Amino acid sequence: MSLVELGDLTVTIAGAASPILRGVDLRVGAGEIVGLVGESGSGKSTTALSIVRMLPSSAAVSGRIAVDGRDVLGMKPAALRELRTRTVGVVQQEPRAAFNPLRPVGYFLTEQLCTNLRWSAQDARARVVGLMHECGLREPERMLARYPHELSGGMLQRLVIAAALAVEPELLLADEATSALDVTTQAEIIAILSRMRRERGLGILFITHDLPLAAAFCDRVAVMRAGEVVEEQAARELFAHPESAYTAELLAAVPVLEEEGERA
Ligand SMILES: Nc1ncnc2c1ncn2[C@@H]1O[C@H](COP(=O)(O)OP(=O)(O)OP(=O)(O)O)[C@@H](O)[C@H]1O
Ligand SMILES: [Mg+2]
Repeated sequence: MSLVELGDLTVTIAGAASPILRGVDLRVGAGEIVGLVGESGSGKSTTALSIVRMLPSSAAVSGRIAVDGRDVLGMKPAALRELRTRTVGVVQQEPRAAFNPLRPVGYFLTEQLCTNLRWSAQDARARVVGLMHECGLREPERMLARYPHELSGGMLQRLVIAAALAVEPELLLADEATSALDVTTQAEIIAILSRMRRERGLGILFITHDLPLAAAFCDRVAVMRAGEVVEEQAARELFAHPESAYTAELLAAVPVLEEEGERA
């Protein structure tokens, strides 16, 4: 059974001329890393947010969304809360938006564990401090007392990843989760995600504009354009033999660095 399965997913927002998503089919299995790539505005974030029903209330959604075989569109509030707090971890594209500017970041990091999973404050702190450390954040204890405006975008991005992983979700929706990070930190985060996939079958929907990263990290990659999935293949195949002209165009747009010896 798939961890998440989208069937003919169509999303329309009142006022928008055409649907934002048009018949999207996508599947992520347990322990599988599926990349979602495509130009800005193609519908990648909308696809991810629809899985946890975090679209604006003006959005009309049709089609099928199943997580662990359960129909998400038919979920009552309690089941939906459970889905968002235990089953699916979400790393939104704009990390700063996840935080309450009036509260220290520690509140955000331990909130799910303490409120929804009823962990003690001490245990929750210990868990998130360990993950913050793994995500390359120095002096995590002190950082928990800082406010979002005191921290850089890259730090906030790592905090959001640590918070999403703290509850040990089955599925992680990672929307440009490593985009604001330097390559060393990015490699550290990718290593953590790979380990969680290996050790406990974490499934990941990995949204990125970084095609070489998608090729290296993902098992399968889906390419979106104007609200549709135009191609989906095993990562290696997609990059070696793109089927659609659009994918070939995207690949051609990636700058290739010349080798030292090739320079004039
Ligand atoms: N709340 C909204 N109201 C109206 N239109 C929206 C809303 N949210 C998204 N859209 C539109 O839906 C389309 C898809 O947006 P989405 O954010 O999913 O794209 P994306 O592929 O994630 O782009 P990016 O790479 O820039 O993050 C865009 O044309 C966007 O303008
Ligand atoms: Mg987006």
